[in-house]
Amino acid sequence: YTIKKAEFMLCAAWSSQWPDESLPEVVMAGRSNVGKSSFINTVTNVQGLAKVSSTPGKTRTLNFFNINDEIRLVDVPGYGYAKVPKKMLEQFSEMIDNYLRNRKNLKAMILIVDYRHKPKDDDVTMYDYAKHFGIPVIVVATKEDKLKRNELVKNEKLIKETLDFDPSDHFVRFSSLKKKGVREVWDCILELCEE
Ligand code: GTP
Ligand code: MG
Repeated sequence: YTIKKAEFMLCAAWSSQWPDESLPEVVMAGRSNVGKSSFINTVTNVQGLAKVSSTPGKTRTLNFFNINDEIRLVDVPGYGYAKVPKKMLEQFSEMIDNYLRNRKNLKAMILIVDYRHKPKDDDVTMYDYAKHFGIPVIVVATKEDKLKRNELVKNEKLIKETLDFDPSDHFVRFSSLKKKGVREVWDCILELCEE
């Protein structure tokens, strides 16, 4: 898939601000600081498209990105970041719940997990949530560059077991640092968006 155009569209705090439902959308979820923004920059090949930060919890709205006027990627606030005030946390989950529940053009979820670690409870919750709504999931195991060779298979197995991974979903080994897995990710996205 060739990226001819990748641009930030808008950030939305309320559903009234969401763009129209004319194009397929893929939503990205993952723990705070797992590498969601880096993922966007890597798969679009546009550095700085999404803000990468060393302080977790920076993304606070639904951020819509337009890819080739064909597909939209939607970045959501990372979960599992303790320092976010409780009130704000409730607003986040309400916003994401509303989006997952009601968005007609939502084709898939990209669940980004850290390849090095066993998924946390909130990763499992997010995966279950997508399954509950019948949303196909692409599990992207990122920071692959930080693993030793002999950990690749072992950790994939651990991640799948912990999530109770549905074999009809996708699993992609990914690294923003090494730009690994980009092609596989687009193959999955296109397949799910064409359905
Ligand atoms: P929030 O928006 O705060 O929830 O974070 P995020 O999930 O968008 O993470 P972000 O992309 O900002 O990356 C967090 C940190 O992880 C940064 O320091 C990145 O440089 C680093 N990082 C992201 N992807 C990779 C990767 O594939 N490999 C390595 N080694 N580091 C990565
Ligand atoms: Mg981010």
